[in-house]
Amino acid sequence: VIIIESLQKNKHHRLAFRCGNEALDRFLHEHAHQAVAKGLSKTYVAIDEVDETNIVGYYTVTTCEVEAGELPLSIVRMLKLPHHKLPGSLVARLAVCESVKGMGVGSLMLLDAMARCARVADEIGGVAIVVDALEEDVVPFYERFGFMRFEPASLRLFIPMASVREILDIVEGQRVAG
Ligand SMILES: CC(C)(COP(=O)(O)OP(=O)(O)OC[C@H]1O[C@@H](n2cnc3c(N)ncnc32)[C@H](O)[C@@H]1OP(=O)(O)O)[C@@H](O)C(=O)NCCC(=O)NCCS
Repeated sequence: VIIIESLQKNKHHRLAFRCGNEALDRFLHEHAHQAVAKGLSKTYVAIDEVDETNIVGYYTVTTCEVEAGELPLSIVRMLKLPHHKLPGSLVARLAVCESVKGMGVGSLMLLDAMARCARVADEIGGVAIVVDALEEDVVPFYERFGFMRFEPASLRLFIPMASVREILDIVEGQRVAG
């Protein structure tokens, strides 16, 4: 069973984490705690209940601004958004340990991040979640969940918060149905 909880300095062994991307590893090893301490972002880790110190994945979230002009006009019109800077959430990093790739941990963490961002939006507002796919290869992973590119070749993707809520309702319905 995978548990997702906030990164804790005295509990989680972050130096052993390897996801295949050096920058993502380094952030967890060296910067994640400082970023939390400074209020820049928050990092959540996926751990296995068998060994709760062992990080099998992590994601980092923070707030962001979305320029209405950068969103597709069709979305701006459909959601009747004003044409200025809009509040949003940013999933700044998401990575899974090499030994558990392809086992669903990435999907579990992305859904957890989406639910967290929706709760933040419920409290203080927010029109979309933004993610930065580090490589073209990873874009389909996000597209499966309804994320769309800002522009045709862009590695920055977004999903309207209204769509996030619909997806979370579907997932919850599937969970209840068993
Ligand atoms: C991208 C990443 C987070 C996916 O995590 P994961 O746990 O392996 O993904 P899941 O097991 O939940 O996969 C869910 C589905 O997405 C697909 N998928 C996973 N990674 C993919 C990728 N890079 N490209 C396309 N599809 C991908 C899987 O095949 C799976 O499909 P299936 O259910 O039909 O088999 C992980 O591969 C990773 O950490 N990569 C290195 C770091 C990185 O690039 N992070 C993203 C940028 S922030």
